[in-house]
Amino acid sequence: MRIILLGAPGAGKGTQAQFLMGKYGIPQISTGDMLRSAIKAGTELGMAAKRVMDEGKLVSDDIIIGLVKERIAQDDCKDGFLLDGFPRTIPQADAMKDAGIVIDHVIEFDVPDDVIVERMGGRRVHPASGRVYHVVYNPPEVEGKDDVTGDELIIRDDDKEETVRKRLGVYHEQTKPLVNYYSEEASKGNCEYHKLDGTQPVEQVSRQLSELLG
Ligand code: AP5
Ligand code: ZN
Repeated sequence: MRIILLGAPGAGKGTQAQFLMGKYGIPQISTGDMLRSAIKAGTELGMAAKRVMDEGKLVSDDIIIGLVKERIAQDDCKDGFLLDGFPRTIPQADAMKDAGIVIDHVIEFDVPDDVIVERMGGRRVHPASGRVYHVVYNPPEVEGKDDVTGDELIIRDDDKEETVRKRLGVYHEQTKPLVNYYSEEASKGNCEYHKLDGTQPVEQVSRQLSELLG
């Protein structure tokens, strides 16, 4: 099963990717997580990406497309994958199509901007695993600690309100056009398109995903 999770920053893509990975046994490909690993490793790519990410802007299409193609070619992606945060621009979507990468389901998480801004203030993450928490809506068992490893949770550098607002602007301008793009692909029979109400509680969204993916 090859799935694209589409939605604004903070819409719940990473949260539901964790659920879907567990349920369907397919890997999560989060371009944001890949870039954050590169930053942590101090690679040239990481250093260049950090400046762009801290400003809430998008990393160049060429770099991202290269990263994703390389990742999808790996063995564990043979039976499917979850794309989280990719594609994010029309050229990224076209590059996938040109590479012959077929998508089965595109899932849009619909969440209004004001809900997003509120959510991001309470997000805590475990970078090594990609697990995501919220201090109120999805709290860890022990405050500030990851449920599985007990590691300290962190706040992402780009979760400052000012940066979140910039990221939302970039989403509306550069990523939202993919809603029409994939709706049209679905009308041609090239994939299925599903729109979910992402303001529902986490478990409710997971339940709906299970129902529609079977
Ligand atoms: P990336 O890491 O992809 O960030 P994003 O798309 O902005 O999305 P987020 O990870 O912020 O949100 P999410 O939808 O995963 O929400 P989450 O589940 O965490 O990208 C970061 C940066 O990298 C970009 O700005 C860009 O610079 C660069 N980049 C990445 N990909 C790129 C690409 N393809 N091209 C170019 N540049 C790229 O949930 C958020 C919070 O809400 C959490 O606290 C969670 O617990 C809570 N929550 C989740 N669901 C619910 C719910 N149903 N109810 C209540 N709370 C909820
Ligand atoms: Zn995410």
